[in-house]
Amino acid sequence: MQAMAHDEELAHLLEKIYQDSALDFREYRKTSLRRRIARRLRAHRIHSYSEYAAILDADPNEYQRLLDDLAINVSDFFRDREAFSVIDTLVLPELIRRRQAERRLKIWSAGCASGEEPYSIGIMLNRHLGDRIVDWDIRIYATDLHEGTLDKARLGIYDKAKLESLGEDAMSYFSLDGSYRITDRIRRLVRFGRHNLTSDPVISRVDLLLCRNVLIYFGRSLQKKLCLNLHWALSEGGFLFLGEAESLSTPIEGRFEVIDKRWKIYRKTGATEKARHNGTEA
Ligand SMILES: C[S@@+](CC[C@H](N)C(=O)[O-])C[C@H]1O[C@@H](n2cnc3c(N)ncnc32)[C@H](O)[C@@H]1O
Repeated sequence: MQAMAHDEELAHLLEKIYQDSALDFREYRKTSLRRRIARRLRAHRIHSYSEYAAILDADPNEYQRLLDDLAINVSDFFRDREAFSVIDTLVLPELIRRRQAERRLKIWSAGCASGEEPYSIGIMLNRHLGDRIVDWDIRIYATDLHEGTLDKARLGIYDKAKLESLGEDAMSYFSLDGSYRITDRIRRLVRFGRHNLTSDPVISRVDLLLCRNVLIYFGRSLQKKLCLNLHWALSEGGFLFLGEAESLSTPIEGRFEVIDKRWKIYRKTGATEKARHNGTEA
């Protein structure tokens, strides 16, 4: 009974947050939300969600602090090296071949946190294309819900500790003039913007969509909705790259070909791909 009251109070709080700020956490996973909100309760030495709702009313800055806690924005360069190596050796070469004629690639890192993910893709593309990269129209859209994290991503400055394990070649993409800043060569490939995956329209005709370690915070029905949207965002034959602990929800599974089961890399199937496999495309 007490647990039910607790659930109801949480639902009220999430509804209030949505009504006041349009931030919609109502369909996020409750376990993770409870843990995060508990931190705010401890910070204020209070014990109930209703007391916390009163604090949100009294102090608008508290919304920002709450969002800082709810947006779990840990990330890393080439996070899951083995997975990125599949992208490097299989996915990017295929996309480069496919788009050779128009020399245009559209990539979307959705839930990009502080930019490590889109910059990693930029570094890999630069390795593949070398000096030819200037002849390509490469757009890496990198979006996130959290403005503060996006500001950090735009700056592109990282702690030395974060870069130490990268190896010499990757390190050469950072200026070493006191701070470790991603070079303009990579920076200019990436366009950052605020985007809410639960409410904003998706970017369309994407060749490679990275949505890693985001779905994991969503409840089941929101995951389903998002998977449908991600499918829609991709061009035919486009690749989807999820986090290791994530997977496609059932109804959408059949519309993708599994490229790497462990690393959750999929290719959208469709008329063009089928025709190509059947040898009917010119
Ligand atoms: C754990 S990080 C993942 C970062 C990166 N994709 C990676 O795998 O290293 C999750 C990111 O998702 C963002 N996020 C959470 N809910 C979101 C939403 N509804 N729309 C867009 N981004 C969201 C958070 O702000 C956070 O930066």
